[in-house]
Amino acid sequence: MKNILVINGPNLNLLGEREPEIYGNLTLEEINKRIEQFASERDLTVKFFQSNHEGALIDFIQQNRRWADGMVINPGALTHYSYALRDAVAAVGLPTIEVHLSDIAKREPFRRHSVIKGICLNQISGFGYKGYFKALEDLINCQ
Ligand code: DQA
Repeated sequence: MKNILVINGPNLNLLGEREPEIYGNLTLEEINKRIEQFASERDLTVKFFQSNHEGALIDFIQQNRRWADGMVINPGALTHYSYALRDAVAAVGLPTIEVHLSDIAKREPFRRHSVIKGICLNQISGFGYKGYFKALEDLINCQ
């Protein structure tokens, strides 16, 4: 495991100002800096991507499928309904960990179901930004 994609979906660009009581006070840029630090200490190279657009996320996954050895993805609300994103993750066949900052099992009923979960090695939910660290550890350990 060497090259990892860290992908965030819709509205996660607003972290820091978006419902901080649910998602925390750190911006996505600050979280990514911490991930970068965590990853470099473990000899991982990380490529970050965020988009509010389903197709852009799918394009990014496809375009990086040969570069990457694994993937961490927080699909935002696409988690709950995007079969197209699920198909993209399945199509590239990379070991993938799904991450959510909040505990989706303890929120509104529509958030409890993930259409992505079934094709991921693990779902990490409710650990805030540290969930991304756990996901990287899972990828390291899955080899
Ligand atoms: C989220 C949970 C989703 O239900 C929500 O739509 C998000 C963020 C999380 O990180 O907790 O945008 O994925």
